[in-house]
This record gives sequence, C-alpha cells and structure tokens, in this order.
Amino acid sequence: MSIVTNPFVIAPSLLAADFARLGEEAAAVERAGADWLHLDVMDGHFVPNITFGPLVVKALRPHTRLPLDVHLMIAPADPYIAAFAEAGADHISVHPESGPHLHRSLQLIHALGKKAGVVLNPATPVEAVAHVLDLTDLIMVMTVNPGFGGQAFIDSQLAKIATLRRMIEASGRRIILQVDGGITTATAPKVLAAGADCLIAGTAIFGAKDYSRAIAELRAAQ
Ligand code: DX5
Ligand code: ZN
Repeated sequence: MSIVTNPFVIAPSLLAADFARLGEEAAAVERAGADWLHLDVMDGHFVPNITFGPLVVKALRPHTRLPLDVHLMIAPADPYIAAFAEAGADHISVHPESGPHLHRSLQLIHALGKKAGVVLNPATPVEAVAHVLDLTDLIMVMTVNPGFGGQAFIDSQLAKIATLRRMIEASGRRIILQVDGGITTATAPKVLAAGADCLIAGTAIFGAKDYSRAIAELRAAQ
C-alpha cells in the first residue's frame, strides 16, 4: 500500500545506478527524497537488454522502505509474477504485448495483493488498456522504446498522456499515470502539463552527482 504525499510521484529508476552497489543506491535515493523506487526487469527477449530478476528485488527489499515499482519487460510475464510479489514488489506492471491475456495478468497481480500496472510502448494505442481500467492501478507511458536508459524523449507521446488523463478522469478511478523514459528538467514540465502524476527518471537522478538536488529540481520542474 503506497501513500502519495507529494503533488506528483518521483520514482528513480535503478537501471542508471551503480549495479555493484544497488542496496546503497536504493538507500541513497530514499534519503534524497524519492517517493518510489522503479525497478526495470529485462529478459533479453522482450527487450534487447538483460537486467535482474526476483532474487535481486528480494535482496534490495531490506535496503529501503520505498514502495518497489517493478516494471516487467519480460515475455511471458505471468509465470514470474508470483516470484516478484514474494520478493517484495509493491507494484507490478506488465506490457500488454508480453502475453495473450492482460486481464488475467492483472487479476493475478491483484490476487497476490499487489498494485497492478499496464505499460504502453510508444506505438501501443491507449485502447490496449481501455477495457481493463477496473483492474488497473497504474498506467505507464513509455516515452522511449523500452530496454535502455539515457534515450531521447519521444514527444509524440504527450498527446497519449493527455488522452489517458481524460480516460482516467472519466473512469472515476484513482489510477496513477506514470511516464518512463527521457525524463529531465526539460521534459518533466511537458509531461506534467499533459496530466502525468508520476515521473520515472534514471539518468536524470542516478547520473547526477547530487541525488537530492536532482530530485528537488525535478520536483520544482512545473
Ligand atoms: C527503459 C526503462 C526506464 C529507464 C529510463 O526501458 O523502462 O525505466 O530506466 O531511463 P532514463 O530516465 O535514463 O531514460
Ligand atoms: Zn522502467
């Protein structure tokens, strides 16, 4: 259960951290004012990169009290969802393309007592989530192609963010609208203006010398 206290959520993506010191890095962004910790799970099949699995999520869990926001870029995802839940994930988000039954994946995440998210790639239309809003706690708009940090923000996704904000308002549900990829102090105001309420940032935070300052600058970027 995550409590949102700030006007919008800042979730540093550990993908840009020092992988030899993940526990320390997680604790450092918590001290620096992060709201959630974003964990990118990649399998070298759904996306052209490999990161870590449930064992690393479990190892990280004692190093921070931040909610763990797990972004699964794996196919299939369903066989591994329980392992991530048991490892300590608080939110588990899946791409519709990672399996044939998104509705079932979301049911499974909820059955395990976790918040469920749907992630939309740049070319994935908003319709992919339209009929499962009742099972969705988070929608993540990819503003880069998933797989790597440090890529350029794709501007065409701003219209999608605005459309999703309208869909969420019309649903009457409290769904967090996340944006992932290319978030900087230059792009953050645009996504916030379009209606996002969670910024996921890897390079802009872990690539900075001073994590507190980087988070404060994103927090002020409106
Ligand atoms: C990319 C990941 C992102 C990534 C963002 O597939 O989903 O979370 O860490 O990195 P930046 O903020 O550097 O674009
Ligand atoms: Zn991510």
